[in-house]
Amino acid sequence: MKIHLKHYLVGLCAVALPAMAQTLLPQPQQVEWKKGNFNWQKPYRLECRQTVAETSAPVQQWLPAKAVTAETKRVVILEKGNPAWNDEAYQLYVSADTVKVCAKNEAGFIAARATLAQLTADGQQTRAVMISDSPAYRYRGAMLDVSRHFYPIEFVKKQVDLLARYKFNRLHLHLTDAAGWRMEIKRYPRLTELAAWRTDSLWKTWWDGERKYVEEGTPGAYGGYYTQRELRDLVDYALERGITIIPEIEMPAHSEEVLTAYPCLSCTHEPYKQADFCPGSISTYDFLENVLKEVMDVFPSAYIHVGGDEAAKASWPTCPRCQAKMKELGTTDVNDLQTHLIAHMGRFLKSHGRTLIGWDEVIDGNLEKGTTVMVWRGLENATRAAAHGYDVILSPGAYCYIDAYQDSPADQPEAMGAYLPLKKVYSFVPGENLSPAHRAHIVGVQANLWTEHVPSAAHAEYMMWPRLLAISEIGWNGTKYKDYDEFHQRAVNETQYLRANGVNAFDLKKEKGDRVQSAIKHKAVGATVIWNKKYHRSYPGNGPTTLTDGKLGGWNYGDKPWLGFLGKDCFDVTIDLGKVQSISEVGADFLQCTGPWIYFPGTFTISASEDGKTYKTLFEKKNPDKNFPYYKTEWWSWKGKAKARYIRLQGDPVVHGGWIFVDEIIVK
Ligand code: ACM
Ligand code: ZN
Repeated sequence: MKIHLKHYLVGLCAVALPAMAQTLLPQPQQVEWKKGNFNWQKPYRLECRQTVAETSAPVQQWLPAKAVTAETKRVVILEKGNPAWNDEAYQLYVSADTVKVCAKNEAGFIAARATLAQLTADGQQTRAVMISDSPAYRYRGAMLDVSRHFYPIEFVKKQVDLLARYKFNRLHLHLTDAAGWRMEIKRYPRLTELAAWRTDSLWKTWWDGERKYVEEGTPGAYGGYYTQRELRDLVDYALERGITIIPEIEMPAHSEEVLTAYPCLSCTHEPYKQADFCPGSISTYDFLENVLKEVMDVFPSAYIHVGGDEAAKASWPTCPRCQAKMKELGTTDVNDLQTHLIAHMGRFLKSHGRTLIGWDEVIDGNLEKGTTVMVWRGLENATRAAAHGYDVILSPGAYCYIDAYQDSPADQPEAMGAYLPLKKVYSFVPGENLSPAHRAHIVGVQANLWTEHVPSAAHAEYMMWPRLLAISEIGWNGTKYKDYDEFHQRAVNETQYLRANGVNAFDLKKEKGDRVQSAIKHKAVGATVIWNKKYHRSYPGNGPTTLTDGKLGGWNYGDKPWLGFLGKDCFDVTIDLGKVQSISEVGADFLQCTGPWIYFPGTFTISASEDGKTYKTLFEKKNPDKNFPYYKTEWWSWKGKAKARYIRLQGDPVVHGGWIFVDEIIVK
């Protein structure tokens, strides 16, 4: 066993902090506070017991001489823990004259080091305590998308330091996607000469524009890539901190950049036309294997991620090579081509001693034993994956996609859509709906930061922290004990720590929170709704009473008060007030959230009738702007004097193919 004691104590001394409340995050499994403090300024002896003693020589080389003396009773003991312990388990005992750390191996000492650093908030004193700790899940990950926007390697290292502080053990880098290839591959130089560079720095401008790549060195080119040397250095840096870097190379989809740099790997051999590799061509397999060989050479991770998500397979049905491959496989289903490619890569990785991870689209294939599925869509995919016998990492969008808004969207920079505050992330209970047998397949949890709307490193940090703290707590401490108020206090303390130490964390103390609206009384409450067009089955709200129950929704369009309508002229309802009445105001409360294509109407009409046959138009509104605001609710209404029993409201989303979301129709 080799324990990097150098980092151990350097880690401690690096935390020169402003005085603040004692926080442990993630919460250790057992903590018993004692009286007193261990003062690191006073002399102490270092005692490495059993095999830990192997490391004592390097320690002597770097520890301040005055801190290591045989003459003092004060002692720091590192001791080998019980061989039956979990790899990352540790025990930590601190009193005024003793610090004793027990762990089975390096991973456990690294976890103890993180706890000790948090306990030594001023860099000088460690509060007396007895801790016995081990993780709930063996995989605790964060994913950073460095394709949509590219971040310097130093920034990635900074995140490694932060992840280590919170006992994460994996950093997954999404290294390739349409927006840019980010890893040097010596055999295929065009990947970084061309496919790593694009015309616009902002992903959104580029994506909404012509989506062109440019040669490296072109004035104004945006992009970049990590050299293999930089990545090896990152891997070592992370390993010293207990974190394995998992590389992701996307296949067969999300590969526009590769297929422009090497068009012969697509079905039509044309640059700028294809997103998916041609799974019927031998060149595809050669290319991907050659890339993965270099990837494995740089990244020692047992897991190699091959993407596998969202393949449109647009050209596979008409490509002669794909068709020939399907014939050879004895199938008429193009989905079997994806399965074949992923299974091939799984065997290839296994033959090199590695394990394939894929997004949950890979489930259907007959994959190698040990294949690990990263569940990102509905949690039913966890059940499907477990039923196949695969290991499962849970990163469902509803809880773990930290590209969503973390606070009141109207006050936040543009984000990917949904509203995902710290509280919602923390509420995640992995495997809650799974049978015990299926739950046993869950190896861990991961939060994902996709970066379409995250143009700078500072912004990436803002999106990650403090929400990653909730994943840290779930992944390490588990979910048996949940108390958001208590966790929130620790998260506020940690956020203060982060902000005081140069991390651009969202200021949790200033969180505004959800859109909370009290119930409203109005004339249409309880009225019958005639559905001229039915709401969509995926967003049924509370069913037929949703629009007339007096309840308004929060920021999350998936919450029950919101009803979703999809497609052209999709919003068309008539309210029956039961009898003719005088009315002075009619309106609807709409949500716009441009990420998932939820728009205010492009046209909106309110008309009224006494007999249900002849309608008079009361109100018409046109709205040509599809882009702004990104995320907002608005109340669109008519005011005046009229008599009516029936009130019809009609709307067409401003963008063809988009959604309209409404939570209430109010009549006064
Ligand atoms: C994904 O979000 N497409 C994995
Ligand atoms: Zn093809």
